[in-house]
Amino acid sequence: MRIVLLGAPGSGKGTQAKLLVEKYRIPHVSTGDLLRAALAAGTPLGLQAKAAMDAGQLVSDEIVLGIIRERLRHNDAKKGFILDGFPRNIIQAQALDGMLHNLNQPLDAALLLDVDFDALMQRLTGRRTCENCGASYNIYTNPPRLDDQCDRCGAPLHHRADDNEETIGNRLRVYDAQTKPLIDFYRNQGRLESINAVGEVEMIFKRLLTVLEPIARGVRKPKLSPPPAKPARGKPAAQAVAPVKGKSLPVKPAKIAGKSPRKPIPRVPPKKTLPKKAATARTASKKSAVKSQSRTKSAKSPAKKTGGRR
Ligand code: AP5
Repeated sequence: MRIVLLGAPGSGKGTQAKLLVEKYRIPHVSTGDLLRAALAAGTPLGLQAKAAMDAGQLVSDEIVLGIIRERLRHNDAKKGFILDGFPRNIIQAQALDGMLHNLNQPLDAALLLDVDFDALMQRLTGRRTCENCGASYNIYTNPPRLDDQCDRCGAPLHHRADDNEETIGNRLRVYDAQTKPLIDFYRNQGRLESINAVGEVEMIFKRLLTVLEPIARGVRKPKLSPPPAKPARGKPAAQAVAPVKGKSLPVKPAKIAGKSPRKPIPRVPPKKTLPKKAATARTASKKSAVKSQSRTKSAKSPAKKTGGRR
């Protein structure tokens, strides 16, 4: 089974991926985890990625695609995989299509974990992860029994560096601008499945299984991967969204897929209201400008007419 987990930061991709690994025994491939591991190991790649990750921006496509190509070559990925946090923009999605087309291993589904933006800030600021066994907690909704200590193995809990309000704000903006278009990308391919990802973790997992079980049983066959697309032109998407400093949530939280799309609010400067006299004077001068224009036009019009008859 080959699936992509789509969803905003904090929508529960990592949490659900862990349960899916236990159920289907296929690897969980998280580009975020792979980048953090590279950073912790101090590799050149990890150090290159650091600045973008700290700012809540996307790491360059070149780095991420290199990581994914390498990871999908491993033997354990031959029987399937759960991609989490990848692809993150159209360029990455097209590149993934190309890879899977060449391997003749089409994607089964792209599962969108649908959560209103309002809930995400609390989920992310409250997240704590065990440094040893990877168990995930939330100090608001699912706290450990002892502060900063894992219930399962007793190891210290870790608060991710990018889980602060400012960086979360940037991550959500980046998601909105660059990752959200993938919803339509996969919908147009007929692979999108939208899952309501609000509620108990186990309940959401059951919702995922209703989509995945027919695929696992072979009842539902995947559509063929499209042939590799030409790379999109223009600016690398990773640099497209400017970070905003000092604001917790630069955009008003939006409703995500399956619900009414948020319309951008145009920034039009307010019209100045002129005093009545000035307004009348302006209208009068506009009228005289129109008159003088029409005089010029009618002076030119005989020549035009002659030309027209020829
Ligand atoms: P990445 O690690 O992928 O982070 P993310 O996408 O921001 O997603 P998260 O891991 O924060 O959230 P999640 O959806 O997995 O939620 P979780 O299950 O943990 O990326 C980090 C950075 O790496 C990026 O900003 C970027 O710089 C770089 N990067 C990664 N991939 C890249 C790519 N492809 N291209 C370029 N750059 C890339 O849950 C969150 C919290 O909610 C937890 O506390 C959990 O306990 C709680 N929770 C989960 N489910 C529920 C529930 N149902 N109810 C209540 N709480 C819940």
